[in-house]
Amino acid sequence: MENPTLDLIHRHASVRRYKPDPVPAALIETIVAAGQRASTSSNLQTYSVVVLTEAADRQRMAELCGNQKHIAEAPVFLAWIADLARLDRACQLRGYTQDTAYLESFLIAATDAVIAAQNAALAAESLGLGICYIGSIRNRPQEVIQMLGLPRLTFPITGMTVGWPERPAKVKPRLPLKAILHWDRYDPSAYDEALAEYDQAMMATGLYEGRQVPFPGKPPVVENYGWTEHSARRVARAERTDLRAVIEQQGFGLK
Ligand SMILES: Cc1cc2nc3c(=O)[nH]c(=O)nc-3n(C[C@H](O)[C@H](O)[C@H](O)COP(=O)(O)O)c2cc1C
Repeated sequence: MENPTLDLIHRHASVRRYKPDPVPAALIETIVAAGQRASTSSNLQTYSVVVLTEAADRQRMAELCGNQKHIAEAPVFLAWIADLARLDRACQLRGYTQDTAYLESFLIAATDAVIAAQNAALAAESLGLGICYIGSIRNRPQEVIQMLGLPRLTFPITGMTVGWPERPAKVKPRLPLKAILHWDRYDPSAYDEALAEYDQAMMATGLYEGRQVPFPGKPPVVENYGWTEHSARRVARAERTDLRAVIEQQGFGLK
């Protein structure tokens, strides 16, 4: 089945090379307003966006996000923030106390933030812009919080670079649908076949050539390095292990 929306969705590819041309403020507003149109838990709209366009800020953000060059190069960086601070004000204005003791509050805000971010991503792509999510905004969360002036009850969930693609990015194959789509009951029986198929598809892209994730005890280059090996290596090591403390420091209870 085809239509312009499906075509746009299926053309998505993260962009990591941008032209230096600025993105007009009106376009950024259009993109974020499209993000706002996304569904949101109980219409609570528990997220905010901080836009960085100044070169020095983008450079600093790149440093905080693992020195990813494309962050400094992209003309726009959007920080998508889980945000219960505005609701706290609403409670204050009406004489209530927000109960943020439970993990559910944080999940609501985090989910809202990413749903809005993805609507904005598609809006940007519909305008010919490229985007790349930046999860590394959680590498040094305390410093990001300080840099962006984030108050209590806010937390940076993901960053997003936005800009004019230098050239079209290659669309990456995804897992076969049978690996992720379950009818009636969860059924993992298709996994091994799906993973083998997907390894072939990903190896055929050449994306892993010269880009094997190093892993202790493994030779620098192994045969048959596909998505299964790549992803297993990615998740076999813990990362961002201090998040709980920072999230709690920001006033979110995780009971
Ligand atoms: C939450 C999230 C965080 C991500 N963080 C980064 C990042 O820090 N740096 C990066 O280059 N790409 C990042 N990405 C992009 C993914 O690597 C990319 O979406 C994935 O490899 C699939 O490729 P595609 O988007 O081109 O289809 C992130 C994506 C998501 C959804």
